[in-house]
Amino acid sequence: MRIALAEGAAIADAATILQRGGLVAMPTETVYGLAADATNPRAVAHLFAVKGRPHFNPLIAHVPDLGAARREAAFHPRAEELARAFWPGPLTLVAPRAADGRVCDLACAGLATIAVRAPAHPAAQALIAAFGAPLAAPSANRSGRVSPTTAQHVAADLGDDVDLILDGGPSRLGLESTIVAIAPDGRGTLLRPGAIARSDIEAITGPLAAPGDGVDAPGMLSAHYAPRARLRLNVEAPHPDELYLGFGVHAHGERTLSARGDLEEAAANLYAMLRALDATGAEAIAVAPIPHTGLGEAINDRLQRAAFRPA
Ligand code: TXA
Ligand code: MG
Repeated sequence: MRIALAEGAAIADAATILQRGGLVAMPTETVYGLAADATNPRAVAHLFAVKGRPHFNPLIAHVPDLGAARREAAFHPRAEELARAFWPGPLTLVAPRAADGRVCDLACAGLATIAVRAPAHPAAQALIAAFGAPLAAPSANRSGRVSPTTAQHVAADLGDDVDLILDGGPSRLGLESTIVAIAPDGRGTLLRPGAIARSDIEAITGPLAAPGDGVDAPGMLSAHYAPRARLRLNVEAPHPDELYLGFGVHAHGERTLSARGDLEEAAANLYAMLRALDATGAEAIAVAPIPHTGLGEAINDRLQRAAFRPA
């Protein structure tokens, strides 16, 4: 496995690896992605295998901009409005597949819809431009584990199964993109809370529906983002055997998602903190209450999945 700074020569190298059907870890502003040529079913099959990801769970196609997205997805004007407001950036749009789209069926898990996103990180933009076609890129972790926010996290999780890791520094936002489905009639559904707060989307779309009534969120398994340690949530006073992850005024010990109670800072710290706590070998982690406003919705969503243990 090779790690290289995400600059000129390494980007060109990465594009060549992708053209040959290989896998490249790329930095984005949300989390690191594991990129493959979205138009090449063999490359995408290899990507599913390396992640240990079930084939029913579709991938996001990463494109440079709205023009490129339109070649893959049939957007309602409401979807275009969202793209203009938030792209490039941490918004993924789900819409019917375009008739002549290039993304392969396997990447879309055979669905009639496709998820597309134009990431803002300059290295991701440069790689997509150098490659010249959509990149399928799930988070660069084994399926079900914590998403990576640094090149080192990717190396620790995927090792030699990835051909090249582009190091673009720590992910600025630290939480995956917000996923919104816009149906052919313009109705919006929030499929995954993420780095853009629901209220910022709803300012454009009006109230978003919840998944279930009509639109599927195939990847939203209840156990996900899981550290090895047991996790207890909404805890103000930890048990003696628990390591504590604080927030704002709730603090015991030195670890906190944000001492000043800032949700953006907490989002950026969340996955790295879960990894660091896990690395101590602790068996039990307790997490302070996180308000459910703004980015708190996505942080609480990830914490609940990380805490879930199948019966
Ligand atoms: O921030 C992000 O979105 C990161 C970076 C790398 O771009 N990517 C990411 O990908 O989080 P992944 O594969 O870990 O999560 C994508 C989610 C999955 O839950 C998947 O089920 C959902 O998107 N998805 C993909 N295509 C879909 C579709 N057609 N309909 C509904 N959900 C879809
Ligand atoms: Mg993921």
